[in-house]
This record gives sequence, C-alpha cells and structure tokens, in this order.
Amino acid sequence: MSAATTPEPESLVYTPEQLLDSGDYEAPLIANGVRCHGGFESDGQYRSPRTLHRAPAITAWKAQLASQGHELIEIDRALMPPQYPSVEQATLLLEHGVRDPVARALTIISIVEGFGAIIREVKVPDLTSLIVEPVEGTALAHLDQGLFEAHARDESGYKDEGGHKQMWEAARDLALESPHIPGDVLMRMMGRSGQRQKAKRPFPQLDPTLERLLQMMSQVLVVEIFAEGTFDWGERVLSDPKVSAAPKEAGDMVRHIRSDENPHVEYLRTALSEVRARTLRTVDGGTIAGREVVDGLLHRILRNMTTTRRSEQQADLRENLAEAMKVAANPKALLEEFDSLEADWNPPARTGFEPATSAEG
Ligand SMILES: [Fe+2]
Ligand SMILES: [Fe+2]
Repeated sequence: MSAATTPEPESLVYTPEQLLDSGDYEAPLIANGVRCHGGFESDGQYRSPRTLHRAPAITAWKAQLASQGHELIEIDRALMPPQYPSVEQATLLLEHGVRDPVARALTIISIVEGFGAIIREVKVPDLTSLIVEPVEGTALAHLDQGLFEAHARDESGYKDEGGHKQMWEAARDLALESPHIPGDVLMRMMGRSGQRQKAKRPFPQLDPTLERLLQMMSQVLVVEIFAEGTFDWGERVLSDPKVSAAPKEAGDMVRHIRSDENPHVEYLRTALSEVRARTLRTVDGGTIAGREVVDGLLHRILRNMTTTRRSEQQADLRENLAEAMKVAANPKALLEEFDSLEADWNPPARTGFEPATSAEG
C-alpha cells in the first residue's frame, strides 16, 4: 500500500479498502494443510487479518467518544454462562476415550463461526436521516464501509483463505486426530433455532431497518462476548497434552482466533456506544434517546441468553452422553464421575442495562 493512501494514525475516516487491508506478512498461517487468514510478522508474532487500519481506526473512534465525554458499553463478564461440559468434564471424557461430545462441541463452534458471515447481509439505513446528531467519522458511519465485511470474512473465510470456521475445524482435527463428526450437529442446531418464537418488535416507533440493525449488532456483541468463555474452554482443552494430540498447534490456532475476535467486540461496542450517546428519530416525527434503545435491547438479550443458553447446552450434550460413553471401559463409573464435576451456575440478578425506573421506590 502506498504512502498516499495510508491514513494518519488519528484518522477517523477510512475507505472500505483500508478497513479490509491486511498488509504484508512474513509467512502465511497454514492450519492442518489449509491456508487461513492472518499471518506472521518477521518476529514470529501472529497478526490478525484486516487489522492494518481497522485496529487503529477502532482505537481512534473510541478515543473520540471518550473525548466527547461519553462512556463505552461494558458488559459484565459474570453474565457469561460457563461452557458445558466444563474443562474438567471434557478432559475426563477425553481421558476415557469418549470423543464424540467434545468433537460435537467443537463442531458447533465452527458452524456458529461460519454463520457469522450473515453480518454482511444486515442492511444499514441512511443513518444521517435517522440520527439527530452527526455520525461522520464514527464507527457507525463505517459499518457498511468495511466493518461488516471484514467481520464476515474473518468468521467464514474469504476466497481461498480459511476463516474461523476452518480454523476451528483444523484445531479440532489436529487435537482429536480427525475424530468422527456426529452427522446430526447442524440438523439439531437448526431444529432448536426453529423452535424460538418470533418476538414482537421491541421498539416499533423506530424505522424497522434501524431497529433490526441495532438488534443484530446487540445480539452479535453479546454472542461475541460470551464466546470468550467458550474459546477459553477450547484453548484449555486443546492445549492439554494429556488429551490433545497437538497441544501446541491446536492451542495456538485457538489463540489466533481469539486475537482476531478482539476487533469484533471492539467495533460493535464502540458503534453501539455511539448510538447510545445520540438521539434517534421515530417514525411519527418524534425522537427517542439512543441510550433507551441500546440499553433496552442489551437488557433483553442478556436476560434471555443468560437464562437459556446453559440449559440448552446441557440438554443438547446429555441427549447423547450415555450413548457416547459406551466406548469407555466402565461407562457407569464414568457418568458418576462426570456428574460429580457438575457445578451450579446462577446468572447475576442484574444485567446492568435495566430500564431506569421512573417512579420512586
Ligand atoms: Fe470468530
Ligand atoms: Fe467474531
């Protein structure tokens, strides 16, 4: 890239080409024979794809928000439901040669990563007509100018480069030596999402495209943040030489993925914080505080995900657990030990985005 098109470090305005630019690498990332995104610097350090300008851009938008006196959304990590089975439970299963439940969990992760590509389909309406204050030089103004596209490419790969979907598959296949993949993983995921009812619109006074955009961004932000716990689980299980056939390679792969996730969390929470600091126009000619909308959406999503996700994961795993354990020498003793490692988890009482109470008391 020539100097003429390289933005100043503090620049707030970028072209899509800049936000999608990875720059040059010393060496590519090859995962289990598959060419993946990202690569290595001359010192051997991994650098995430498409961050040459995207990373400083996000830093600059955050600094601007802070300089204007606005806060950045902070989601309490205590709201993150722990992964099921836990690291200890997954390790126990693998030590007894029971690979199916862990292979299933890792396959679900890779499929969910691939689904991340839908972010590029999210329509961004004309924000200058729907937001009272200016949006020029913000993360918001760049959602459809490279940010969504970079995110989509990171998750599902682009052209001949694998993304997170392929990287998780590689980590799984390296660590568990190309395990048998249960054939019903995707079918069961689809079946479950089909059971969810269509909720009514939370903010019908908003332009529907804007409401949908903010809902999607809030949902994806929470999914990305909760994924931190899942990825930590993956890194710990797959880096354990007791149960992983490639502790270094598979563990590194998860570490690379985790570093790629950072810009996703950061641009989403910056853009939503920008909305939160502004005023939105309603379809009837009035206005509503962005804070009321963003907090309302985050509260609903967090409440819903903290209460349903763990039980869904538990039910999903236990459906095949007894069957999967048949390969162990003593399935009954193994199940007892597995259950003895069961830990209780109760979500915190507050999401931190509760609607302000208008009445006293
Ligand atoms: Fe990802
Ligand atoms: Fe992500």
